[in-house]
Amino acid sequence: MIALGCDHGGYELMQEVIRHLEERGLEYKNFGCYSNESVDYPIYGQAAAKAVASSECEKGIIICGTGIGISISANKIPGVRAALCHDCFSAEATRQHNDANMLAMGARVIGPGLALKIVDIFLDTPFSNDERHIRRIGMLE
Ligand code: RB5
Repeated sequence: MIALGCDHGGYELMQEVIRHLEERGLEYKNFGCYSNESVDYPIYGQAAAKAVASSECEKGIIICGTGIGISISANKIPGVRAALCHDCFSAEATRQHNDANMLAMGARVIGPGLALKIVDIFLDTPFSNDERHIRRIGMLE
């Protein structure tokens, strides 16, 4: 189950992400928002982050205009490692090295083509399980 959260700035891109997850047959839980009317990103970033932290959802995808505000808000929830990624290399590396459990993106920064590739890499790349990465992740908590 994938937790989804966005603000008005991320709403349109989130609709593309939802269509993509449905095409892939992946289950998701949408914590809003539900239109492009102006809202406050911490509400939606943290609702999705709490679902990941509680293990209700294995991973999360959060989107705002820049991806910055919503990633900062998600990372305030203990157990969440939200990575702001706007390129494929970072999406792969953050899964392998940081075991990132949430992907943040900025809808005003990248287009849907790249965003959906980043989503796929984030969802499909396993954690390396290397001892050094496990140790460093442990030091984050
Ligand atoms: C909303 O205008 C915008 O500030 C928000 O989507 C995000 O970019 C904040 O970091």
